Amino acid sequence: MKENSYIEKILDFSKNLDISSIKKFIVYYEMSSTNNVAKQLASKGEEEGTVVIARKQTKGKGRFDRKWDSPEGGVYLSIILRPSCQPDKATLLSLSTAVAISKTISNYNLCPKLKWPNDVRVNGKKIAGILLGSEVSDDKLNYVVLGVGINLNIKINSLSKNIRRNSTTMLEEIGSQIDYYSFIKNLLLNLDKYYKLFRDKKYTLIIKEWKKHSDTIGRMVEIITPSRRIIGEAYDINESGSLIIMKDSGKKITISSGDCTYYEN
Ligand code: BTN
Repeated sequence: MKENSYIEKILDFSKNLDISSIKKFIVYYEMSSTNNVAKQLASKGEEEGTVVIARKQTKGKGRFDRKWDSPEGGVYLSIILRPSCQPDKATLLSLSTAVAISKTISNYNLCPKLKWPNDVRVNGKKIAGILLGSEVSDDKLNYVVLGVGINLNIKINSLSKNIRRNSTTMLEEIGSQIDYYSFIKNLLLNLDKYYKLFRDKKYTLIIKEWKKHSDTIGRMVEIITPSRRIIGEAYDINESGSLIIMKDSGKKITISSGDCTYYEN
């Protein structure tokens, strides 16, 4: 059965994977949401470096409770991490993950661009997203669940009509299928590399890399947060990964999280 062969292949390949920050794989062919499962496991004490991975998801979740279309062919994984850092540094973990995804996609002759805080886009359309969930108590980060979704071997018509216009897939961009297992391996190697930089508190380097791959800075953007809507020029990123917006009046506003839209694509 293809279900069993998927699970066996991932478990097999995980045995030969020499990546120090990845310790364990939990694999299902189909799962509701790898993020939900990883969060449940993390809250029960699951160790740092556990990867929850599925071939498809029935209730894939995006940011702001949006649905994340998760048909077979895409990459859906969540990693449990327990970094010892201030909770406000979590945004930087998103940025470093976005850089890791971007590096992986660049290996396939594509030129991804990062949109703050954590979208990965190719030719102006979203190809991958990151969903970061965390638990904080007494101003301490107990765990972070880093969810990564990448539209890999997916035909655009397999995605919901309403997201097709602003989304793309590796299959559509390259015109041929990519080996799923070697893609995951490259991805995990890059995630490991950038997580180590994060753990070593190389924050300036992460921000530098993110800016190099991003097309947000210098753009006119609209940011929606639960409490406000801000329009202005994306001016810079601060040391925590927050976006600094410069309004027409010259006033600067720092935003740690929100939904960002470019005024023109
Ligand atoms: C976004 O851009 O809105 C974030 C999308 C994150 C999707 C991934 S797929 C693996 C993990 N499990 C989920 O339910 N969501 C994340």
